[in-house]
Order: sequence, then C-alpha cells, then structure tokens
Amino acid sequence: MERTAVLEQFDVDKVREDFPILTRTVNGKPLVYLDNGATTQKPKQVIDAIVNYYTQLNSNVHRGVHHLSQIATDAFEATRRKLRPFIKAAHEHEIILTKGTTESINLVASCYGKAFVKTGDEIIISAMEHHSNIVPWQILCEERGAVLHVVPINDAGELDMDAYRSLLNERTKMVAITYVSNALGTINPVKEIIALAHDAGASVLLDAAQAIQHLSIDVQALDVDFLAFSGHKMYGPTGIGVLYGKEKWLNAMPPYQSGGEMIKEVAFAQTTYNDLPFKFEAGTPNIEAGICLAHAIDYISALGLDNIAAYEHDLLEYATQQLLTIPSLRVVGTAREKSSVISFLLDGAHPYDVGVILDKLGIAVRTGHHCTQPLMDRFCIPGTVRASIALYNTKEDIDTLVAGVQRAAAMLL
Ligand code: ALA
Repeated sequence: MERTAVLEQFDVDKVREDFPILTRTVNGKPLVYLDNGATTQKPKQVIDAIVNYYTQLNSNVHRGVHHLSQIATDAFEATRRKLRPFIKAAHEHEIILTKGTTESINLVASCYGKAFVKTGDEIIISAMEHHSNIVPWQILCEERGAVLHVVPINDAGELDMDAYRSLLNERTKMVAITYVSNALGTINPVKEIIALAHDAGASVLLDAAQAIQHLSIDVQALDVDFLAFSGHKMYGPTGIGVLYGKEKWLNAMPPYQSGGEMIKEVAFAQTTYNDLPFKFEAGTPNIEAGICLAHAIDYISALGLDNIAAYEHDLLEYATQQLLTIPSLRVVGTAREKSSVISFLLDGAHPYDVGVILDKLGIAVRTGHHCTQPLMDRFCIPGTVRASIALYNTKEDIDTLVAGVQRAAAMLL
C-alpha cells in the first residue's frame, strides 16, 4: 500500500481507545506519554489476558498432569508458537523465553563465551550500545582473556562502517550490535553488518529491544545468529523476553542456569540436560507474562508492523521539524535512517531540569544518559531529553511536547 494510503487508514483514535492509561491525567494535565523507549503502555487486550490468567489459568507449566497446569502450559507454549512466524525463525525450539533483553544478552555472552571464546579472541560492539550490550561482553573478555573492540560513530550517530570492516579479522568471535539505538534512534545497517561478520567467521547478536516494536524482522533473511528483545517494549508485560538463537549454536552451548526444567535426568553421578528450548529455561518462568505476550503479538500483527512503522516515521519527521523551530534546541542523533526516537538538548539547560518541567505539564519523557554513558561521552554531553514515539502517539502529543519545551526554554534560559 502507498505510504499516504497507510497514513490515511491508520486510525490512531481507535488505537488509543485500546490503551486505558492514556485517558488519565498527570499533575492535573492529560497524560502525554513519550517514554515508549523505556516501556510501552499496554492495550486492554493484554490487560484482560493478565486478569484472565489469574482468574482462570494460574498454575505452573510443564509440570502437572492436572487440568490447570495443562491449559497454562498450552497457553505458554502458544506464545512460543506465535513468536516463530513473528520473527520468521525456522524452528520453535530456537526461541528461548527469558526475563528480557538483558538476560538474553547475558545468556549468550556467558554460554557462547564458554563454548567458543578463548584467550586472544576478539568481540566487537559499537559506541552506541546500551550498557546491557557492553557490560556482559566486558565481563566475558575479562574472564576469557579476550579483547573488546568498539566500532566508532560519526557526529550524526551512524556507525563508521570502514572502521567496522577494519576491526573484523579471523580472531573475531562475536559482533554484538544494536539494531536501533535507544538513545539516538539510529537504525543500523544490520544486514551488511551480519554479512561482513560472517565473511570473517564471526557470529552476530542483534539487540532488537528498540526494533521489534517498530520494524518487521526476519531472522532467516538477516541470517542473524542471535536476536534479543523484551516483551514490555512491544506492548506486552514486563518480566518476559526472547532470545532467538540458531539451533546449531544453542545445541553447542552449555546451559545458562541450572535447576528444574532444564534437565532430562538427574542422578548424583551425572545429569543430562533437556532438549531445546528447555535447556535454557531453568526454573519456573514468568508464566503470566509469557502467556500474555501472545496478545501483544496479536495486537501488533493486526495493525501490521509496516503500517506502524509508516505512521511512527511520519510522526518522527513532524516532531523533528517542530522541535527544530525552537532556537536553542539541538537534536542529538541525526542519522539518515532513524526509528521513532528524538533526543535533544536545550543549550544552557540541564536535561533533567527540562524533564522535570515537562513532567509538571503531564508529559513523560526520559532524561539522562539512557544507559549509554559511553555514547554520551562520545558527544561530550551528560545526557539528553528523549522523546520516544509509539503507535498511539499523535500530532497533538507532539504539539504539547513542543509547547512544553518552549515553556522550559523560557523558564531555564
Ligand atoms: N533501555 C530502556 C530505555 O532506553 C530502559 O529507556
């Protein structure tokens, strides 16, 4: 469908009716929620599913023969079944349910690291990574005597692909890169990044925490080795996330945690591990969140990710244009390919002070370093004000934000 036709057909008023929280006020003002990069609000379809879980299904999964345990297990596994086509994985058992992106990345750093990384090997990350895609690799490098390399970025917040090419070599074992920067909105050229890494014999982990709710992802077309994302940033519950991994890697990796569920047989002499995906799912999972994530996937799928992306992109362009009319404002992160994040600074004002004033006006944004301190250091700034857009935001939300920032400028500068 033509972009203009998509935009005309995207019924944001109807979408907003699905999100009860959007009708509340904050500090006496209608809520304008622009902190979607931190977490998205939940549609009533997800909220109803949570209530239904506790009123009709609550039981442990993969354990009991009794009725409730069986229906809870079926509902939990239905989410895995739904995730497979959602990210176009080849097999359901390549989908591990975790606590979130952070746990997914830690799992790969720890288990892939134990299986494949040795002294002198190299790991590549980028200057725009979230702390959760930096620290696990630092710990791994420390433990294994491996070397961590960082791909630099330009002033627009785009990866220096020549530097990336020159960092790759036969010692590179893993390239761990964000698909979309949480602080700048940059969409990285992941297909090219993956192809280059594979040519050098390295694997690739994509942090898709800020991509999964905005872009359709096909793990097989990308040929990515690992993909990590969280439920709560895609209109689902907190405490559930996904690690996609190619079967060949997951089979060759040792378990992450040990205990119930991840075993086939336990004897004091020896324990045998369960098959995928359960080998990586020790202990009782977040059952409610796992089950209800399916409703978030249904919600996004019914609207269509391409339609969502077109709508949000239009709003991002509008927000950028309008914010730039404020004389003292500068946008941090001006990549050619951007997703729905706009980070900015008022020259002469601390981002925290701007955030506090916006909050008084009912506008929720994130301020600070956004868990990307090295990125802030790269720009020589303490942090930014970040507005992150979701499918229920409107041009009126953006107008309220712009008026709020103008007011903050008048008070602070
Ligand atoms: N990683 C989340 C954010 O960017 C929490 O706000």
